[in-house]
Amino acid sequence: MNIHTIPVITIDGPSASGKGTIAQLVARKLGFHYLDSGALYRLVALRTLQSCIDIDNIAQLTDIARKLNTVFKDNQIYLDGKIVTDDIRSEQCGNLASKLAAHSQVRAALIERQRAFRQLPGLVTDGRDMGSVIFPDANLKIFLTASAEIRAQRRHNQLIEKGISANIADLLQDIIERDERDSNRSIAPLQQCTDARLLDTSSLTISQAQDSVLTWYNEICAKTSA
Ligand code: DC
Repeated sequence: MNIHTIPVITIDGPSASGKGTIAQLVARKLGFHYLDSGALYRLVALRTLQSCIDIDNIAQLTDIARKLNTVFKDNQIYLDGKIVTDDIRSEQCGNLASKLAAHSQVRAALIERQRAFRQLPGLVTDGRDMGSVIFPDANLKIFLTASAEIRAQRRHNQLIEKGISANIADLLQDIIERDERDSNRSIAPLQQCTDARLLDTSSLTISQAQDSVLTWYNEICAKTSA
């Protein structure tokens, strides 16, 4: 079986753009596997925090990334057999993930683990470099974004729904700083690749965004089978 014949849809974009939600919905609709690549960086961040490792110790961070004992199963994420699905969603983990993701050695240690998710009948994945670095031959590449203000508002709503108090101004500041770091790093920066389609969800519902992705994918399938 040639791995490159297995279809892949990549959805890259900034934090809180809704790419995870859209990617999961599209994956469910198509019956494809789903990879949340940001979760891998967040897992490295969680383990780093738990082990009290200096975040400038690149050799140790890389070692954590290489040896990560994780399982993604039934919408849960396990680290060393323990469910950490909610733990890795903290702002602390997200910010540390963004910092350690700037190290090329850490990124390299996670490449094969990500590519291993490419299995039949197909894969939908979200992140920052899915279309540019991990799956450059993806069938459909999307750059999904929304204004920083809308993303801060959406994150605020999510936190309030969970009963967590939050301040929109702080969230907006956080999002702007994370965008800045993820976009300006020298290795695999967040950017729209030339062959990716732009999907701005600022004024779209989740269902409209999902439909756009499915329509594009169906068009590509129709063209390749014609
Ligand atoms: O998608 P997310 O917010 O869960 O990702 C957390 C951080 O991980 C993000 O700020 C940058 C990093 N990341 C990355 O560098 N490359 C990816 N493919 C996914 C995430």
